[in-house]
Amino acid sequence: MSELSRGISQLAEALDGAQRVAALTGAGVSAESGVPTFRGDKGLWKGFEPQQLATPGAFSRDPAMVWEWYDWRRGLIAACEPNPGHRALARLEAELADFWLITQNVDRLHQKGGSQRVLEVHGDIWTLRCFEECGYQVLEERTGIPELQRCPDCGAPLRPGVVWFGEGLPEETLHQAGLAAATCQVFLVIGTSSVVYPAAGLADLAASRGAQVFEINPDPASRIRGVTVLQGPSGEVLPEVVAALEARRKGPRT
Ligand code: OAD
Repeated sequence: MSELSRGISQLAEALDGAQRVAALTGAGVSAESGVPTFRGDKGLWKGFEPQQLATPGAFSRDPAMVWEWYDWRRGLIAACEPNPGHRALARLEAELADFWLITQNVDRLHQKGGSQRVLEVHGDIWTLRCFEECGYQVLEERTGIPELQRCPDCGAPLRPGVVWFGEGLPEETLHQAGLAAATCQVFLVIGTSSVVYPAAGLADLAASRGAQVFEINPDPASRIRGVTVLQGPSGEVLPEVVAALEARRKGPRT
């Protein structure tokens, strides 16, 4: 049995016995859909400087440029479909009694792939909200949005509904993610380089509370002690995990 097959069986067994399961996903989960990741040779941060594009200061200095960059990304994402990894996570939600999907992704491909209970800790790219935080926000799932829309309530510019560097994460969402991590028996870390906090700290929190931690990544990155690594692309590994879980549940019980 290969190390990967052993890992898949161990994870299926752990999922089968768990009351509560949580998963943290990152850009790698959408890589097989064609959405660029952030780090690595072909990552977005190789060609663009985060400080020039993904901070409130950058938006204040040059809102048109920031707007254009996000609209370009919206266009890239609009051309992408959920992959078998997204669909497998939706299956897990249906299969398990209590499953929390925490994502750093802003592309909404988890929802498109069928997941319903998604905690978007870095916001989402399709929501536009008031830069002055007057409370206005709108979901605009289309591209080619004309530059510099104004808030209909207060006239301030509208901004993408993502979390920028230097900003806090949405409080209630982060609270729920923390609760899920602290109380689950199994925690999955999938397709993330685990370098951006506080999201990366959720796996540490889960491990410190006794959860079994599994990582799915072709280039494993988490440094959690005792983590079981399933090395491979999530679009291939996750469907195998679901198949193994379903086979266990259909098979004879001992
Ligand atoms: P990164 O680009 O930092 O990391 C992507 C991870 O996905 C790497 O560990 C890859 O090895 C892995 N990967 C690549 N292909 C994969 C595949 N097919 N299956 C599974 N894994 C694969 O992306 P994130 O960790 O999501 O923040 O980045 C975290 C945050 O940094 C983002 O949410 C964004 C960025 O700056 C904000 O915008 C606030």
